[in-house]
Order: sequence, then structure tokens, then C-alpha cells
Amino acid sequence: MRYVLGMNQDDARARWDARYDKPEYHFGETPNAFLQREAARLRPGMKVLAVADGEGRNGVWLARQGLAVTSFDLAPRGVAKARALAARQGVALDMRIAEVASWTWEPATYDIVAAIFIQFAAPVLRAKIFAGIVETLKPGGLLLLEGYTPRQLAYGTGGPPEAANMYTEALLRDSFAALEIIELREYDAPIKEGPGHDGMSALIDLVARKPHAESVNRAN
Ligand SMILES: C[S@@+](CC[C@H](N)C(=O)[O-])C[C@H]1O[C@@H](n2cnc3c(N)ncnc32)[C@H](O)[C@@H]1O
Repeated sequence: MRYVLGMNQDDARARWDARYDKPEYHFGETPNAFLQREAARLRPGMKVLAVADGEGRNGVWLARQGLAVTSFDLAPRGVAKARALAARQGVALDMRIAEVASWTWEPATYDIVAAIFIQFAAPVLRAKIFAGIVETLKPGGLLLLEGYTPRQLAYGTGGPPEAANMYTEALLRDSFAALEIIELREYDAPIKEGPGHDGMSALIDLVARKPHAESVNRAN
């Protein structure tokens, strides 16, 4: 059994693989709606990292916009389905099977980091992931993040049952203090993303930019 920051990785992998072990896509094949709304910020050729990309609906869509996508996920079955989706849609991505705690966050490498529903991470692991995201963005690069707020526990229409894993505006502002917040919004909306996310949901969206060194210096 391998434990990373108190989480049994073998259990997590088996749990996610079991969810993905069916022909249908657990979160559907359609990209996340927030990501699609942010399409105007994307340019062909941008380098993007899709964190915990599951069965690939978001990474594949980003590749279809002409971006150079690297994605990873813990679940081999999810990555296999992501590869199949990419093949059906005629795009190529660099897809890896990896657990986030061992991911190497290459410094200043990506124009975009997409982190869509990665709330498997409890606070200690989450802090490491968020620090890694900041590190791996290029100056000027953008974080596109969507998750649930604590009120999602009452809706029960997706996401883990752990209140500590949910996001609030204050938590995201504090965690991403090194970034310039462009958009940060909590709202309730119905979502239909396969059987995994289905129904009225308490959402939070963040768009944030890593400043260039000069603008940090100017502010000091
Ligand atoms: C709610 S799903 C979201 C998947 C994808 N981002 C999407 O929006 O369709 C969470 C994903 O996190 C992955 N995951 C869970 N624990 C992980 C870990 N420690 N490292 C990497 N991925 C992990 C799961 O396999 C699953 O695919």
C-alpha cells in the first residue's frame, strides 16, 4: 500500500478505475462549460497542463483548439479512455498516468493550467498542488480552475463528501495570492456532466494570471 500525504493511492486508483470501467464517460465527453466560456483566452500553440484530466474531455477539447496539451491522471482506465477520445477526435496529446503528489511541476513552462474538479485533494495535498500550479505557469500564464464550494455537500450532485476539500473565495484568494485574480465567482447552477456531475451545483470559478517579474517589482 502506498500512502501519499495520508491518502492511500492504491485505493484511490482502484476507486477511480472502477468508476471509469464502463463504455460511457463518467463525466461525459463534452468539455466543462466554464472552460468553454473561457475559450477567448486560448490561442493555438499555447502550452497547457490539464491536471487530473480523468477521461480526457477537457484535455481533448483544449487540443482541438490547437493548444499543445500535456495531461495526467492517477487512473489508468481514465487515461486509456482519454486516449481513445483523442483518437476518435483526431488530436494528439501528451497524456501520462501519474499521481499529483509525484508530479514534477516544471518551472515557468505552461501558458495555461486547467484544474477542473480536482477536489480529491485534502488541504495539505491541495496546498502542494496550488504551489505547483503557480510554479509551473509561465509569467503571464493563466490558471483556469473550477470547483465546488462547501454548500455543494447539501446538493450532493457531485464531488467528494469532505467539507475540507471544498473551495471558498477567501481560500482561493489566499492560496493564489501570487497571482492576479481576473475572475473569481461563486454561483449555483445546474450542470450535466455525465452521471458524475448531475444537477444543481454550488460552483466556484477562478481565472488568475501569473504576473511578469517587472509588474511584481513595480508593485513593491
Ligand atoms: C472529479 S474527477 C475530474 C476529472 C476531470 N478533471 C474532469 O473534469 O473531467 C477527479 C479526477 O482526479 C483523479 N485523481 C484522484 N486522485 C488523484 C491523484 N492523487 N493524482 C492524480 N489524479 C488523481 C481521478 O482519477 C479523477 O480522474
